[in-house]
Amino acid sequence: MDNKNRGSFSGSIGFILTAIGSAVGLGNLWGFPYKMGANGGFPFLIIYLIFVVFCGVVVMALEMSIGRKTGKSPVLAMGEIGRQYRIVGWFSVLCPTIISGFYSVLIGYSVRYAWGFLLEIFGGNGFDGMGGGDFFGTYTADVTQVLIFTIITLVGCGIIVAGGISGGIEKFNKVGIPGLFVLLIVIIIYNFTLPGASQGLTYMFTSKGMEMAGTEFDFFNACRVAAGQMLFSCSLGMGIMITYGSYMKPEESISRNAWIIPAADTLAAIMAGLAIFPAVFAQGGTPNGGVGLLFITLHDTFTSMGSIGNIIGFLFYVLVIFAGVSSLISLMEVSSAHFIDSSEAKGKPVSRKKAVLAMTAIIFVLSVPVCLDMLGGSAITQLPLVSKIGCLLDTYDFFTEGLMMPLAAILMCLIVGWKKGPSWYEEEMEKCGNKIIGKSFFRVSIKYITPAMMTFVLISLALSYLGI
Ligand code: TRP
Repeated sequence: MDNKNRGSFSGSIGFILTAIGSAVGLGNLWGFPYKMGANGGFPFLIIYLIFVVFCGVVVMALEMSIGRKTGKSPVLAMGEIGRQYRIVGWFSVLCPTIISGFYSVLIGYSVRYAWGFLLEIFGGNGFDGMGGGDFFGTYTADVTQVLIFTIITLVGCGIIVAGGISGGIEKFNKVGIPGLFVLLIVIIIYNFTLPGASQGLTYMFTSKGMEMAGTEFDFFNACRVAAGQMLFSCSLGMGIMITYGSYMKPEESISRNAWIIPAADTLAAIMAGLAIFPAVFAQGGTPNGGVGLLFITLHDTFTSMGSIGNIIGFLFYVLVIFAGVSSLISLMEVSSAHFIDSSEAKGKPVSRKKAVLAMTAIIFVLSVPVCLDMLGGSAITQLPLVSKIGCLLDTYDFFTEGLMMPLAAILMCLIVGWKKGPSWYEEEMEKCGNKIIGKSFFRVSIKYITPAMMTFVLISLALSYLGI
């Protein structure tokens, strides 16, 4: 496992920041605010937090333990537990590939926005003279531009992943993640000076918010969306953390990381909410603005700041790109690691560069229809399966975070919790004298609470799909 093709992390902070870098991404900045806004605000937040503790922390510890114990990437790691469990590992090749297919398009959007603000700084016309809503609509319908920015994103990430773990990914996160937090704080403070902004806080943190904003609340739907969003945001349910765990040193405390990483991720999501909702209300908008919320609202916020807004806007989208890229490289890393490992197991090793090149090409092929769909503006969205779910991007999302990721989480809990038993993972978590923070919490959750909650989510998904 310690061969030179795979590499390893240089230290504890490097590991935590890399894992947080994978977790904090467009899921937090783009997905969380718009899903919270579309699902009732405050009650959604509470449900989300419950899922973070009882499923996020638990699955995080589980995946890291599986990874470090076997020292392998997901398919081979699960195969080592039992041949028939390789199927779980396969999700971890399929899911990241599908997610990358729309993730790269969204990072491409951010690249376009950063470029727009850069032009504005130098007195140019970065957004064709349009405001938030109009520009977003026009840009997303311009397939050629969207494709170009997607290609820029994929090529950049391919180069970083091909460079290897400690060289490429770690350096990126040491600067990008702290920088993102700082800039979010700046935007949040600015928001507090806007008239009407306090309504955003009421919406996010009190039960009065729902009537105020006139948004609907459907408990089952909120649970389903919150669970999927949580897995997505913490990078769980498809074995990414198995791969990361396989690179983790034995002295590292798995349980400590399993608490810190989801906590940091949730903090970032709430901060993104604080950067967006007060501004939404100050601008007289509604929180259920959907997929474009991050881009439209903040574009208007930065414009309202005057010329300094161009600089802050530029920096912000650059950091969104950082956050997105560090997640996308983690997605590309997992699927590439699979090809590297399995080719080695077969005795015909493939170089890292070749594996990454192949993955990048596959992801590009998946991203083209998403670009062509224009977030639902094309005939693709009218296809039978897609139209039932939303646009093509929603469909990719549905099959991954809605279906496969909860399923993988359930299977991992059942296989490790019941088949292998607590001593199997506890031994790994206690390595080198580490104490498990919340030992009985993990025991009860892995066996009962987490699989039960995830099963509930899948059943409610099935019922809503069948229209019951
Ligand atoms: N967590 C990232 C985000 O919030 C996305 C992501 C990166 C991801 N790696 C993942 C999601 C692995 C699921 C699994 O944007």
